[in-house]
Amino acid sequence: MFSKVLATAGLIASLAINTVNAIPTIEAVGAKFFYSNGTQYYIKGIAYQLTEADPLIDTTQCQLDAVSMEALGANAIRVYHVDPSADHTGCMKAFADAGIYLFVDLETFNTAIDPDHTTWNQTMYEAYAKVMDNFQAFENTAGFFIGNEVIALDNQSLAAPYIKAAARDLKAYRNSKNYRSIPVGYSAADIAQLRPMLQNYLACGNNASESIDMFGLNAYEWCGNNNLQTSGYDILNQYATGYNIPIFFSETGCNTVQPRTFEDQSAIFGPVMNGIWSGAIIYEWIEETNNYGLISYGPSAAATAVATNTNIVAGISRTGTPLPVTPDYSNLQAQWATLTPTGTASSAYTPSLSPPACPTSTAGGWLVNGDVALPSLGQTLSTDASGATATATATTSSAQSTATKKSGSNGGKEIAGMSAGLVGVMLGFMYWL
Ligand SMILES: *[C@@H]1O[C@H](CO)[C@@H](O)[C@H](O)[C@H]1NC(C)=O
Ligand SMILES: *[C@@H]1O[C@H](CO)[C@@H](O)[C@H](O)[C@H]1NC(C)=O
Ligand SMILES: *[C@@H]1O[C@H](CO)[C@@H](O)[C@H](O)[C@H]1NC(C)=O
Ligand SMILES: *[C@@H]1O[C@H](CO)[C@@H](O)[C@H](O)[C@H]1NC(C)=O
Repeated sequence: MFSKVLATAGLIASLAINTVNAIPTIEAVGAKFFYSNGTQYYIKGIAYQLTEADPLIDTTQCQLDAVSMEALGANAIRVYHVDPSADHTGCMKAFADAGIYLFVDLETFNTAIDPDHTTWNQTMYEAYAKVMDNFQAFENTAGFFIGNEVIALDNQSLAAPYIKAAARDLKAYRNSKNYRSIPVGYSAADIAQLRPMLQNYLACGNNASESIDMFGLNAYEWCGNNNLQTSGYDILNQYATGYNIPIFFSETGCNTVQPRTFEDQSAIFGPVMNGIWSGAIIYEWIEETNNYGLISYGPSAAATAVATNTNIVAGISRTGTPLPVTPDYSNLQAQWATLTPTGTASSAYTPSLSPPACPTSTAGGWLVNGDVALPSLGQTLSTDASGATATATATTSSAQSTATKKSGSNGGKEIAGMSAGLVGVMLGFMYWL
């Protein structure tokens, strides 16, 4: 009797604990994200790629970082590369316990869509599906990217239908497996000549099964003490107005003015933008030689230290207790602490948004003419068929190069936009390239 009562009490207690620990899932409705409890979700994210192959397998490290990120005010991480055969349970729990969600890229280093030899095929599809299989099970997985900056130059827009075809096939796969409707989106380089055509094209058309579920922009326009006008964010905001799916900054954090003060966060979460945008992901967590870090794991060492200390890769310690980079970490913390828009409750949100029109092509500009039939699985882009690529603009102004510039974790794409001399210099310093 007594023991039965105790057992029942224990069961109730454990149910209560489970309820407390469970993290609400995130869903996309119309142009916004919501927690499953109905509160709007704004991303306060951090790009997180401590190790090239997969930063989500070292549970102890994830726990240390999750605690520091929670103190910073973050509620999301973005990871570019994962190993779908690894066990991510410990790391995903560490982040869930801190209220932190994951946006993860589905492509791997050797399966990303290549704008110079554009194809979408079975090998790539199966690789993306494996990442989805692995991460869909975690309640704090918030979104999948079909690619990061696949289109890195203004003359690469013919790759866009291949991005859409990949999204189509992975969304169909998700649905066929009865996975949660985790949004499948794209993370774009901010290329002035393709605005707003790329974001509109990826969302356009009458068949939602063939368009992306969310759009992320990697924007480095707002440096130092800018404002909505001088940064160009007012233009971005204008282009995002009326967009039918969630749009957010999938990377931001210009570092040409030091220290970083993250003034753009007050705009993104402020009254002009917070009804249109769903937040921002700051580039990046770990301090590397490119100077975008919010924390470090100790002083950098000589690159030769790699031979004696496995924590150190390319001269940078990659494990340990995170130590804030000052004052950048506390600057971001102070910004985020004051920026908590209420947003809209899902119960009060009944969007009647239409997809944007599919843009028509212009010579030397956007090269995809309207709502073209998407490539089928196995198709390869033939550039000589239309001759369209021959008319692409030859040069990118230096101002635009600066706007799209960054570094890092999923490098390689940025290289193409730089001068050969600069590429040579940067190769000497940037590990992930
Ligand atoms: C929904 O969950 C989020 C995250 O845990 C929390 O911040 C918010 O207050 C919750 N909303 C409601 C209505 O309980
Ligand atoms: C798909 O494309 C990739 C990259 O071009 C290639 O390595 C792979 O062999 C292709 N797979 C198939 C099934 O054609
Ligand atoms: C929408 O697109 C999906 C995926 O390509 C296709 O299976 C479906 O038939 C399309 N629906 C309509 C009404 O065309
Ligand atoms: C695209 O632009 C880049 C940089 O301006 C140039 O090197 C490349 O040849 C162009 N590609 C095509 C297909 O025109």
